[in-house]
Amino acid sequence: MIHEMIMAHSILVKVFLGFLIGGIAIPFVTANNPMGFRKASFIYTMIFQALAAMIAFTGIIAIFAGNLGWSFSTILMIIVWAALMFIEIKKYKLIKVANVQKESTFKLLRSAFVKISLLQILLVVLVVVLKVLEAKGVIALG
Ligand code: HEM
Repeated sequence: MIHEMIMAHSILVKVFLGFLIGGIAIPFVTANNPMGFRKASFIYTMIFQALAAMIAFTGIIAIFAGNLGWSFSTILMIIVWAALMFIEIKKYKLIKVANVQKESTFKLLRSAFVKISLLQILLVVLVVVLKVLEAKGVIALG
């Protein structure tokens, strides 16, 4: 049970990373379509939050089912998870209320979308690298 949960968690993290990378295409594909950009951002944030919820769910089940306790490594994952969610919700709210029909605002939002995605990717890659190094015994996160 716990093994399956960690496996699912690990696969979901990779799917999530792929999704974040693929999402960078949105501001480019919708470059001439402000309403399309807003709509795609909405669908994107729904999928983002669904995947994030599944990651948290499998992680929390693993902690309780496996009596793993709250190591520094786990707390770090939770902090990064919360940061990812916080950034995503802020970004989506901004796109939702902004006047995307105004060319300068639209340009700014598209550029922010790419930068925010890159930041989120960096955070996920950082955790994955730390977990791999921890598994290999190169570092001890505690
Ligand atoms: C609420 C959020 C989360 C919880 C409760 C959680 C919990 C866990 C637990 C219990 C494990 C297995 C034990 C261990 O290796 O320490 C684990 C493994 C892992 N987690 Fe998380 N995690 C969360 C979020 C994340 C996020 C956001 C990422 C990526 C950015 C992530 C990446 C990983 C990786 C790469 C592993 C190693 C998987 C493997 O051994 O194949 N986790 N997590």
